[in-house]
Order: sequence, then C-alpha cells, then structure tokens
Amino acid sequence: MALRNIVEKGDKVLNTHCRPVTKFDAKLHTLLDDMGETLRRADGVGLAAPQVGILRRAVLVLETNVPEGEEEYVIELINPEIVEQSGSQTGPEGCLSLPGIYGWVERPDRVKVRAQDRNGKWFEVEGVGLTARAFCHELNHLDGVLFDSLADHIMDDEELDAYYHRNAEPEEEEA
Ligand code: CO
Repeated sequence: MALRNIVEKGDKVLNTHCRPVTKFDAKLHTLLDDMGETLRRADGVGLAAPQVGILRRAVLVLETNVPEGEEEYVIELINPEIVEQSGSQTGPEGCLSLPGIYGWVERPDRVKVRAQDRNGKWFEVEGVGLTARAFCHELNHLDGVLFDSLADHIMDDEELDAYYHRNAEPEEEEA
C-alpha cells in the first residue's frame, strides 16, 4: 500500500465527471488499498477516486455510527448510486480537497446506496446522519461537484470553532 497525493480545489480533475469502473482487477484493488491508507492518514470520513487524480466512479466512506467499543470501518463503493433518501439535516461540511474551508450544507438524513464491491458484486448499504452526509458528498465528487457550490454559508476554522463552542455551552449559561 502507498499514500496517494490528495489534489486540492483548482485542479480540474475535481470538476470532471468520472467514468464507471469496468475492470475489477488488481489495479483497482491497489487503488482502493491506497485510498484507504490515504483516508486513514488524513483522518477523513470519506475519499473519492478523483481526489487522488483517478477519474473513475469509486469512493470510500468511513462508517462512524458503530456501537461503543466497536471499530469504525471503511465502506468501499464502486459505481455507486443513491436509490433511496429521506429526512434532512443541515450542518457544517468539509472536504480533504478544500482544507480549512467548511460550508453549511443541507443533506438527507438517511440514504440508501446501491454499489458494487471491489470484486464487482452488487450490494446495498444504508447510512444515517454523518454517514448519509458522507455518501452524498463522495457521490457528488464523481460528478465533479464540490460541497462549496452547494453551501449557503462558507466558514473558516475560526468560525467553525466558534460554532462548536456555542453549541457546547451548557443551557444554564444561556439563561
Ligand atoms: Co470531499
């Protein structure tokens, strides 16, 4: 496995529609392994192939909704599509390709995705909350869409810290 370089906004690969994966071969497996290592190292919740310069429909999403004591795990989604969605959530969203930038983005609260695994087998997976947000965010990457074009407010690190600080304040202090 090897770390791949994460491309940043301004590189046109991030605004390009990606082609389907057609070969479920060793080259794909190496790409997915490398993306997994790159995602872990970057401490992100998702990574799409175009973010490492590969214009194919493959993404990783970290499932963070796990029972206490169990490990978070990475879901590999090849040629994914959203088949069901419901509810809505609005909150801050970021991207490894736009470091230090966060945006207020509305997403469905629950999303079901149909995709192929690394061997080409079709499956369905459901995500709630942050995982639903990550599914939507990563699938957008495959169509060349970055979250900042969907955000109605862009924040920097300082504003985001202030937001979390406000929300962490106990209710008594507001009384
Ligand atoms: Co992103």
